[in-house]
Amino acid sequence: MLADREVAFRLEEWYARRGRDLPWRRTRDPYRIWLSEIILQQTRVAQGEAYYLRFEEEFPDVRALAAAPEDRVLKCWQGLGYYSRARNLLTAARLIVERHGGIFPTDYAAVRALPGVGDYTAAAVCSIAFDEPRAVLDGNVFRILSRLYDLEEPIDTASGRRRFAGLADALLDRAHPGLYNQAMMDFGALCCLPAQPRCEEECPLRDRCLARAAGTVDRRPVKQGRASVAPRYFNYLHLTCGGESLLARREAGDIWQGLYEFPLIESDRPLEYAELAADDRFRTLLGACGPLHHAGSVALPVHRLSHRAIHAVFHRIECARWTEELLLRYRRVRQEELGDYAVSRLTERYLSR
Ligand code: ADE
Repeated sequence: MLADREVAFRLEEWYARRGRDLPWRRTRDPYRIWLSEIILQQTRVAQGEAYYLRFEEEFPDVRALAAAPEDRVLKCWQGLGYYSRARNLLTAARLIVERHGGIFPTDYAAVRALPGVGDYTAAAVCSIAFDEPRAVLDGNVFRILSRLYDLEEPIDTASGRRRFAGLADALLDRAHPGLYNQAMMDFGALCCLPAQPRCEEECPLRDRCLARAAGTVDRRPVKQGRASVAPRYFNYLHLTCGGESLLARREAGDIWQGLYEFPLIESDRPLEYAELAADDRFRTLLGACGPLHHAGSVALPVHRLSHRAIHAVFHRIECARWTEELLLRYRRVRQEELGDYAVSRLTERYLSR
């Protein structure tokens, strides 16, 4: 994509007038910037400021933090919740002392490798402290970009994230990445708000915003969401008889085409074994194989596919005999050969138990 200099220029000009004066913006010390970013992972700027000032005073540099007893760090963190973030902070500080001689790493990969540091935090720290050209990508940035370019692409898919990451990178002001990233953060927090954005009052991009022109601002960004993830209930019959089992090959027109699986009865709700055994399909299939012995049932954790959540239960049933009808419909397989067949990950999980 062609870089659009004008967007960055207008955002930075807006930021110069409207950006927030925050304590971690008065330093280039990577340790302090990292501290602020970890705190802001957990809370909003308004509450984060007081915590930042407390940490800065108690632990003015990475060595002071590394030398602190865990109790003192947790005490400083108290009220923010999610205490593993505080423990990671301490672990990272000790690691910096041990492996980096107490000097905060300046290399993106080394920063990203610190415990508790993800893509966003590494990009924020390295751009703000070292002017490394890394664009931050979070909910604010998704919202801003999806509105500016009126993008319908969902932000919660792998391909959507790649596309937005590419756009964010193309728009980044590579000469002033820290300034640009912080302008994006404040623009998302103060102007391009999730609800009731201040387009008319103050948006510096309003004449460029394609969603504003199309009247779709309130519908951006788009999320695929979980609405389309409908549950399906799979009752698998792991039938055994004389060291053999039965498999079916899945047909076209549904998931897992061509893969093998145990005979399947799908239901519109979860079924107990007794309910399943009373189902017409079960009785038609196994009525002449009796007597049947139910040797146990295994319910697997929900198996998530992109549009489906599969609730599967495998019922192990010992049959007295195979019927002609079963053998016409299914493939007879020796138990120890089950592993030779291509099966879904779901069935594989069951077989490997
Ligand atoms: N949110 C996350 N990082 C931030 C920063 N550096 N300034 C303002 N808000 C933020």
